[in-house]
Amino acid sequence: MTSASPLLDAPIGVFDSGVGGMSVLRHIQAQLPHENLIYLADTGYAPYGAKPEHVVAERSLAIAQFLVGQGAKALVVACNTATVAAIKLLRAHYPNLPLVGVEPGLKPAAAASRNGQVAVLATDVTLAGAKFLLLRDQVSNASGAKFLLQGCPGLVDQIELGECDSGATRVMLEGYLLPLLAKGVDTVVLGCTHYPFVRASIESILAKAGRHDVVLIDTGDAVARQLARLLASNACLRPESGTPATLKAFTTASGTALSAAFSSLLGLVPVVKELRIEKDLAIPDAH
Ligand code: DGL
Repeated sequence: MTSASPLLDAPIGVFDSGVGGMSVLRHIQAQLPHENLIYLADTGYAPYGAKPEHVVAERSLAIAQFLVGQGAKALVVACNTATVAAIKLLRAHYPNLPLVGVEPGLKPAAAASRNGQVAVLATDVTLAGAKFLLLRDQVSNASGAKFLLQGCPGLVDQIELGECDSGATRVMLEGYLLPLLAKGVDTVVLGCTHYPFVRASIESILAKAGRHDVVLIDTGDAVARQLARLLASNACLRPESGTPATLKAFTTASGTALSAAFSSLLGLVPVVKELRIEKDLAIPDAH
């Protein structure tokens, strides 16, 4: 049996500054197991959170252009920073393309919090973005929740190095989390797609502090559900067919490093290719 049309077989493009988007990709694979996927890690330009917003917007646009050129039928901006910086621009460029972004889960956090004190861990670009600040004000006004914003410089770099549970990463996390706990937060939003990969380290810090009550909020599952809804309403869900779904990956840095990350973080071994993406141009590397 084959799929009904080339559109249905077309891949979904998922991108991030590096490995973080894999925390969303795993939910997409779980909920949409028949979809062909392309993952692009813009590791040559990571971390986005330390770049000016317009640079992140330019990178996002160039990457979207590449993924659309690969035939993508939908795009997932699996990065809070790129969503804040570029989702409006992407929607304007691709008005007919199903497009899903991610943003810190403030609404679910406000609903989960018992005392209305919520910490948001994210990159500095995300926390300074107009889109995020608007969301914070709306949710805060509607729920009465108070959001304590905490940038986490260096954390994405640690995760990119594969140091999800090293001593240095733990010390860094303690530096960010313990003052927030002292201020009384009972809910912590993981507002960067890299951070679910340090969830175990965060949980052990919370346990050591005797704070088993603290709720962690990650929106990967909700993003995959939104993607499924959008594909269904655009009539472009790929049906179960005789051909197994494929996963291809691209990186703007080392293919070996991305392969290692896929294997250690998701237990997957996709075909990984290196490429360069200049502003308006994607150039596959010669090897
Ligand atoms: N994973 C990203 C996010 O969700 C970006 C991290 C970065 O490159 O700084 O914000």
